[in-house]
Order: sequence, then C-alpha cells, then structure tokens
Amino acid sequence: MLRKILPRSLFGRALLIVILPVILAQIVVGTVFYDSIWYKANRNLVRSLIGEINNFFATYPEYQKIKKADELIQIFQSKNQITINIKKNIKELPKNKEPGLEEFYDKLIIAEFTKGFTYPFYQNTEIYNPSIQILVSFNNEIIEFIVPKDKIRGTSAFVFLFWIVVPSLLFIFISILFLRNQIRPIIHLSEAAEKFGKGQYDHDFRTSGALEIRKASIEFEKMKRRILKHISQRTAMLSGISHDLKTPLTRMKLELELLGKDSKFQALKEDIVEMEKMISEYLDFASNQYLQPIEKFNLIDLLNNLVSKSFKKNITLKCQKNLIFSGRKNLIRRCIANIINNAQKYGTTVLINAKKSQKNIIITIDDDGPGIKDEQKEKVFRPFYRVDKSRNLNDANVGLGLSIVEDIVNSHGGTVKLLDNPKGKGLRVFLSFPQ
Ligand SMILES: Nc1ncnc2c1ncn2[C@@H]1O[C@H](COP(=O)(O)OP(=O)(O)OP(=O)(O)O)[C@@H](O)[C@H]1O
Ligand SMILES: [Mg+2]
Repeated sequence: MLRKILPRSLFGRALLIVILPVILAQIVVGTVFYDSIWYKANRNLVRSLIGEINNFFATYPEYQKIKKADELIQIFQSKNQITINIKKNIKELPKNKEPGLEEFYDKLIIAEFTKGFTYPFYQNTEIYNPSIQILVSFNNEIIEFIVPKDKIRGTSAFVFLFWIVVPSLLFIFISILFLRNQIRPIIHLSEAAEKFGKGQYDHDFRTSGALEIRKASIEFEKMKRRILKHISQRTAMLSGISHDLKTPLTRMKLELELLGKDSKFQALKEDIVEMEKMISEYLDFASNQYLQPIEKFNLIDLLNNLVSKSFKKNITLKCQKNLIFSGRKNLIRRCIANIINNAQKYGTTVLINAKKSQKNIIITIDDDGPGIKDEQKEKVFRPFYRVDKSRNLNDANVGLGLSIVEDIVNSHGGTVKLLDNPKGKGLRVFLSFPQ
C-alpha cells in the first residue's frame, strides 16, 4: 500500500525526505499559531465589538426618550467606524444560518455573540462583503450594524503566514536544484551500466558527484576494462590456438592423401575436414566480433534481404514497417541467419515474426521440424554440441551456430529462448533485444 504511494525514483524519494519534514513542521507551526494566536486574537476583537454594541444599547433608550437617538447614532458611528441603520422595513429578525466548516468568522461571531450579547441577533458576512452585517432586535426595532471586517480580523496573521510559507517554498526550490545535481551522476552511472550490458563497450562517461558515487563510477570503469580485457584475451587466445591448428591439420590431410585411397582412412579424412570447418567457423566469428560499431538500421530491410537470399523458398516474414534496430548490424544478420539456417535445415516451412514491444524488439523464428526436447534446450547452446551426431554426420554442421547466436544476443544485452512451436510441431526461437 505505502509502496504504491511512494515515488519510485531516487529523486522523488529524496525530495520527499526533504519536503515531508518541512510540510509537517508547517502544519505543526500553523496549528499552534492558529490555536494560540490567530484564534484568540480574533476572538478578542469580536469581544470588543460586542462591548461597543453593548455600550450603544446601554445609552440608546435614554437618547430615545429625549428624542435624540439620531445624535447618539452619529457619535457612535464616527467614533467606532460602524454604520448604524434603523430598519423599519424588516419586522422580524431572520434566523442565523448554520455556518460551514470553512466559515471561520461566521462561526466565531455566532459563538461569541451567543455568549456575550443579550439581545437577539442575526449576522451575515456576505451581503456587505468586506463588511459584516449584524442585525439586532431591540424593543420592537430592528437595528443594523455594518462593521468593517478589519475590526475583527487580526492582520498580523497574514504577515506571519507569509513568512512561514514563502521561505519554506524557497527552501524546497533550492533543495530541488541541489538534489537534481546530486542525483544526476547516479543516473549517468546506471545509464553507463545499462549501455555496457547492451554491448556498447565504447561508451565512456565522466565521473562526477559525491565521493561515494565517484568511487562507484571509478570502480565500475575499472571492472568494465577488466571484463573487456578478459574477453579480448580469451578471443585472442582461442583464435591463436585455432590458427595454429590449421598447419598441422593441413599437414595431416596431405599425409593422408599420400597414404592412398584406402577406405580405412576415409573416416579419418572426414574428421579432419570437420575439424577444419570448426576452426574456420570460429576464426571467422572471432575475427570481427567486437570491431563493429553500433549503428541504427531498419530491421525489415535486413530480414527481407535474408529471406530473399535463402536458398529454400518456404519462408514467410511478418514484420512491422520501420522497425529501427540499434546494434551491430553484421552480427545481428549473422545471428538471425544462423537461426533461419537451422530452421530450414531441420524443418521445411519457416515463419519469421518481428515486432516492437514497449522497450524491446522481439523476433520469433518458427519451423515445423522435429523441435528440440526440453532437456536438450540448454545444451544445444554449447559450442560444438549437436543433438544427434549421426543425424547429420556428413552434413556441413559444426555445432557452433547456436553458441554464436547466444554470444551475439548477449553482447547486445538481449535474451534468446528455445520454445516449442505453438502450432504443435517444431521449434520456436525467441529473441528479445532491448532498445
Ligand atoms: N530448428 C531446429 N530444429 C531442430 N533441432 C535444431 C534446430 N536448431 C538447432 N537444432 C539442434 O541443435 C543443435 C545445435 O545447433 P547449432 O546451430 O548450434 O549447430 P548445427 O546447426 O548442428 O551446426 P552449425 O550451425 O554450426 O552449422 C543442432 O545440431 C540440432 O540438433
Ligand atoms: Mg546451425
């Protein structure tokens, strides 16, 4: 529940940590202020107004007797900034409305007048806004008092409110600026890690920010270099071995030729041919793997090209138009070509489907061949592994196709899964590349 409300980003959370105490402090200060100063100040002002009106009524009957009520009204008006009207046209005092929760002054006036005023009264804060109307029923007369609101409103409150609200808004604004600067290096670090995961090895970023973040960035860079060095060392070593094996293999081939066409040597010859293929496949793959730049290309063009070049024609392509892929184009081509190759080798009809989901490009390649049993699905990714060696002994198979696919997909930060074809028979290869 709480997790749903809380902001998910680091910036949002940090901001909350800064803002929440400020708002809480404001609420506390505001409530205390309202209760102890604002309310009491206004209440006292209303009470003194009641006092003034009471004074008026204390002398009013006497002035009425000597027919000098008008004079009293004049004096009262000029002394108290209150306008007084004798309402001849109103016979009966209206009933006070029940004030709503936000009608602070209505509530206050009604409460205080009920307590400290003896005559029946009616108040209205809207009719003469910004003045207040108070009607009093006195000796069969309805007398109207029009009181400026300022008389019962403490003005210091606004100054106070201004000084607690405006500086805190200012503080919040400043902390937003600071927080953004503090969080930017973390965002850069996470972007760098993401890019590295997607195989964009050349991406360099400047370390900045607080000490801890700087340290994490430096360590990340070091780790990145170590991994890259490790990869290139491994590739170089394997390439070296493969290359060096070529010479003795050629020699062996020659020697076998010299031994004549005896069928005894046939199997040996085949093995040597196979080894040569393995080596040249591997060398070919290793030679251009990491040299290629990341580029943006339209996937449909690449797929169309692959389909048009495929030697068997039973192949269907469904692809969104303008599916822009960012990656190493030749490697992606090789990856998909390997899968199509398998699909055509082990099945007869092939269906390729490519589409963009929220953040990924999804490519599925379905065939109607024998499929791969669940327990084999992991193993076939191993280099030089073939499910049924006798199945295609004389074929040009090396068993590197899917390991190359996995390597390419990993170097793009993607995933590859072998699934059963949902149509029932055959294999579905599922590829997903983050974009
Ligand atoms: N579409 C498929 N249907 C059935 N089996 C498959 C399919 N794709 C691959 N396999 C099995 O997985 C094994 C490994 O495939 P992989 O592509 O790595 O090697 P390969 O096709 O035998 O040789 P290479 O691709 O190097 O020429 C294959 O030998 C095959 O048995
Ligand atoms: Mg293959």
